Amino acid sequence: MIIAVDGPVAAGKGTLARALAARLGFAYLDTGSLYRAVAAMTLAAGEAPDDEAATEAVARRLTPADLERDDLRHEAVGQAASLVAAQGRVRAALLDFQRRFAHHPPAGKKGAVLDGRDIGTVVCPDAELKLFVTASPDVRAERRYRELLARGEEIIYPRVLQDLKERDARDQAREVAPLRPAEDAAILDTSELDADAALQAAMQILQDRGLR
Ligand code: CDP
Repeated sequence: MIIAVDGPVAAGKGTLARALAARLGFAYLDTGSLYRAVAAMTLAAGEAPDDEAATEAVARRLTPADLERDDLRHEAVGQAASLVAAQGRVRAALLDFQRRFAHHPPAGKKGAVLDGRDIGTVVCPDAELKLFVTASPDVRAERRYRELLARGEEIIYPRVLQDLKERDARDQAREVAPLRPAEDAAILDTSELDADAALQAAMQILQDRGLR
């Protein structure tokens, strides 16, 4: 069974997808970490994140160990990731890995939960459940601001809100695999839901659709 969790910046996709995977005993893949790793490695090599030849080469030699880099959640890496993610050659280079993970989850797990922007629309259009997780821009910016502060980044709230809006706009406007809900996705607005309530809501959707 495949569960696709898509949505805009800091909507709570990762928290929900990880919790769902733990509850169901499924494998979990944060596909944003692939784009973040390509961005971080491109920047570290002194290359530009909008140089498609450079980024494609990095994407093609990505290994699972690269997804553990400790700079992946830096705000600058997130911005560069959304530039990298607009490039068709990079997306194509990362597609097989994501599909293999979804259809043959590691450690013999019976299912996989993937979160990202295009899981329900492009990577796994055949997913049994598609969730589109969203929340108001202010709520999302507040969450990301707290997350970055807790990580010790020096950052101001207005900047976080501006970066979030820029990144969402770029993710929605790009030609390849733009951010949008799949037609058969259930929309889950987490503006007023904490992590536990979001998990309960997702489990209810699974039940309503006869998947549990
Ligand atoms: O956690 P956050 O919502 O900030 O972002 P992320 O999921 O780590 O993704 C970082 C960036 O990678 C996004 O802004 C997208 O541009 C890109 N991305 C994508 O294009 N497709 C995916 N399946 C996942 C991420």
